[in-house]
Amino acid sequence: MKVIILAGGSGTRLWPLSRDRYPKQFIKLQGKEESLFQETFIRSLLLADIDDIFVVTNEKYKFLVMGEVEELGYDYKENNILVEPEAKNTLPAIYAGVHEITKKGHDSVLVFPSDHKIAEGSRFAGLSWASEELTKDYLITFGIKPDGPNTGYGYISPGEAKGNGYVVKEFKEKPNYDTAVEYIKKGYYWNSGIFLFDSKLFTEEVKIYASEVFDAFESSSDLEGAFSKIQTKISIDCGIMEKSSRVAVVPAEIGWNDLGSFDSLYEVLEKNSSNNITNQNNILLDTTNTFVHSQVGKLVATVNVDDLIIIDNRDALLICKKGESQKVKEIVDILKEQQ
Ligand code: GDD
Ligand code: MG
Repeated sequence: MKVIILAGGSGTRLWPLSRDRYPKQFIKLQGKEESLFQETFIRSLLLADIDDIFVVTNEKYKFLVMGEVEELGYDYKENNILVEPEAKNTLPAIYAGVHEITKKGHDSVLVFPSDHKIAEGSRFAGLSWASEELTKDYLITFGIKPDGPNTGYGYISPGEAKGNGYVVKEFKEKPNYDTAVEYIKKGYYWNSGIFLFDSKLFTEEVKIYASEVFDAFESSSDLEGAFSKIQTKISIDCGIMEKSSRVAVVPAEIGWNDLGSFDSLYEVLEKNSSNNITNQNNILLDTTNTFVHSQVGKLVATVNVDDLIIIDNRDALLICKKGESQKVKEIVDILKEQQ
């Protein structure tokens, strides 16, 4: 098995903690020894030899990636880091990895985003091996039991049972709130964003449903050339998973958390008896259910507040109502427009 780690996203929903130059997959979260990227790398070693792990990332993050792997004490080939000249979303990134892998022949490929937490990594590894059989006929996505109508995820409707999963009847990327409520009632899964497929079948589906990406690689001698020919930014979810009829979902109970927003971060981090989370010695008086993160040397104090997210960084302060942190992405969009 080969592994592709996606590490090129900018993690805009964790602004101002996550920055364009230093996105969330590389941040060492409160009390954590390893970044999410490093955790993903360690998890990948349960499935593939180090030489069979490929990291696809943006030019901006190449040295961060190299440094993070070195910090783990591994000797990693620089050639296994595939550098995109520009972020074109996940489909071109994944295809870049697949294209590289297939130079040496076809194999099964596991795609890991690097912005997730998986509490039960070895259980997931076992599930991946057990699902390899299904990759002969299907592109596999691992499905998570939803705990609410979160609109930041893809939704999957399971159909006929096949092997240890189900043939997918419908895959809908990031539905609106009302549709998400409907999907939850109907027993849809969330898409974990982790995929397993045979590189041959995946290549066939890319040729059919995303010919711009396929042709760009066919007609170029290197990744830079291929990326310059791809005009449309496209995710694997919208480009392939929503369209292909050869997708199966394998339910995965692996302690998965996306950490895609401050709300999901709040869920996994340790809270005190007032259900607050704070780094360093901030003072939270008569305060409950609140998440405070401040810069070293900067004190934040609150009085009689409930359900807030307060992120105080060197040059930006975010104050957000708990439950609304998906919208932080819109702040980053506004900032980009102003630049
Ligand atoms: N190399 C590279 N290049 N990586 C990228 C790029 C890119 O252009 N864009 C995103 N990534 C990486 C991110 O760093 C992350 O690790 C992963 O690909 C997924 O991208 P996100 O941007 O975080 O996607 P999402 O969270 O909005 O949605 C995806 O994940 C959800 C689960 O967390 C989708 O697959 C959803 O369907 C899924 O539910
Ligand atoms: Mg994500």
